[in-house]
Amino acid sequence: MSSTGTPKDMNPSSDFEQIIDRGLSRRGFLKGGATAMGLFLAATPLAQAVAAASTPMKSKLLGFKAVSASTADRFIVPEGYEARPLISWGDPILSNAPVFDQSGSQDSAAQAAQFGDNTDGMSLFPLGDNRAVLAVNNEYTNYDLLFAHKGDALTADDVKKAQAAHGVSVFEISKDDNGQWKYERVSDFNRRITAYTEMELTGPVAGHARVKTAADASGKKVLGTFNNCANGQTPWGTYLTCEENFNNYFGTDAEIERDAHQKRYGLKAEETRYQWYKHDQRFDLAKNPQEPNRHGWVVEIDPMNPTSTPKKRTALGRFKHENAALTVDNSGHVVVYLGDDERGEHLYKFVSKNRFNPNDQIANRDLLEEGTLYVARFNAEDGELKGQGEWLELTHGKNGLTAENGFADQAEVLIFAREAATIVGATTMDRPEWVAVHPNNKSVCCTLTNNKHRGKKEGQPVGGPNPRAANHYGQIVRWWPNNEDHTSNSFKWDLFLVAGNPSVHNGSAYAGSGNINTDNMFNSPDGIGFDRSGRLWIQTDGNYSNKGDFAGMGNNQMLCADPESGEIRRFATGPVACEITGLTFSPDQRSMFVGVQHPGEKGKESHFPAGGNSKPRSTIMVVTRKDGGIVGA
Ligand code: FEO
Ligand code: CA
Ligand code: CA
Repeated sequence: MSSTGTPKDMNPSSDFEQIIDRGLSRRGFLKGGATAMGLFLAATPLAQAVAAASTPMKSKLLGFKAVSASTADRFIVPEGYEARPLISWGDPILSNAPVFDQSGSQDSAAQAAQFGDNTDGMSLFPLGDNRAVLAVNNEYTNYDLLFAHKGDALTADDVKKAQAAHGVSVFEISKDDNGQWKYERVSDFNRRITAYTEMELTGPVAGHARVKTAADASGKKVLGTFNNCANGQTPWGTYLTCEENFNNYFGTDAEIERDAHQKRYGLKAEETRYQWYKHDQRFDLAKNPQEPNRHGWVVEIDPMNPTSTPKKRTALGRFKHENAALTVDNSGHVVVYLGDDERGEHLYKFVSKNRFNPNDQIANRDLLEEGTLYVARFNAEDGELKGQGEWLELTHGKNGLTAENGFADQAEVLIFAREAATIVGATTMDRPEWVAVHPNNKSVCCTLTNNKHRGKKEGQPVGGPNPRAANHYGQIVRWWPNNEDHTSNSFKWDLFLVAGNPSVHNGSAYAGSGNINTDNMFNSPDGIGFDRSGRLWIQTDGNYSNKGDFAGMGNNQMLCADPESGEIRRFATGPVACEITGLTFSPDQRSMFVGVQHPGEKGKESHFPAGGNSKPRSTIMVVTRKDGGIVGA
């Protein structure tokens, strides 16, 4: 979801105070500018450190001509490229589905058989050169577009329709006679998973007292997944969908006090935006206080079997999951990096107990059942934008995770992972979004999208990988596990980029790192992914006002970076008021699938993708080169 602040929240003139706050040496300060005048003319030490974080050289990996920033209501790709819509919110995917009707008056049964709303993370599962199954998250929905009445006075069926707009859509795609990808209107693979699809709670939390409810005495049978943000893909052919802002779906009209756990996870004992609790008691916090403990997990889905039961993998911890970046280490252990997208929350890593066996895909299906969860602590010399880090184990009985500190057992450590992370001393981050593991070396990147509270709120000091107060631009932290071993408990890190606006903040830390310039600037990096050649694709979910601190950045966009040279080029720009999120490739890298989420949100005028007077619809675009070449090369 978009959650960047407004330009006025930012206080760029406070660079100087931050340097003093951070206790950077006076010597360093004097070197930066010996006179009061010099302070304004020369870069401050923090600005110098930020600028030096990444100094670009010309890339050999990037072969396209950059596109300009844009405020047009279009999806724009470089010269020599084409982009076509594949599927939009409301397109029919099950055999009983009606076609999309933009009046907003279709019922829940229609929505449950159509592509869900707000396309987000997605993965492609090949069925051959010209066929594949696409699994796609439908993160949330916008009531002003979903309903003719824009969300006033919801009926029971309206709530069910909203629930059906959420979840995951699985469908077959194939190439037509012209070599263009299209989705299959009828296929045995097509499936909708919604906020009321039955799933199994598995792993250490399954059956625990904290996840039993009036409707489920077993503590193992959960209905639904919702606010599925980003994703992951396993080498045993399953899809991972990650539950993010689940807290927003619970509410109540009763007068109740929230406990500390509920507060830490952002649950509210009041009327909430989606109002599901008014027609579905599961979402009434007063009536079902344990139901939220059954959400906020990573869910594993077999996209090849439409009758399979999705499994919530509790060993990976409960928080506002962004994506699940999975890699198999040299040792055979499966390592999953996981961000918790909230200001001042944390970055996690799961290491499987058992090892991947390429000859036993059935056994591999249990690899996410058992393992060890860790959380990151970043250490840095004061003023350095690089350093060492360590992974702190979140295991009951270790590192203070004991009954005296409020954790009865390992299940409670996992259900309340955020609180466990605080006890072990994890670093509070600037909203960890997607993590991406480099395909050909051991480096890993994570987008830290922005954090207006940095340097202002207790527990969120400026420093280390979060170097700027009132951070409205974001950065990408990168790390290398020690000994090139993803199971290692230590790593070294730097900042691959620090986003900023060099035309508005020249000479300050808000200008960004050396690889940010007036031609490629952007704010709030969110979705990221490497292609097989090691290009880093970056998608933004930021402030698209194109004014003030964001002047010249235009609409949300997609960039491509070369991790070796540091060069970053803008590859695509999205339509009005959208977020660009979700990417996957055909195996030959000649087609790239990109999500355009919520064009025209908050009443902004967009008619994407159909134009004319049509309602704006979240849409997956297929990007190809006119000469059939590899995308990005
Ligand atoms: Fe769904 Fe953190 O973005
Ligand atoms: Ca986001
Ligand atoms: Ca996101």
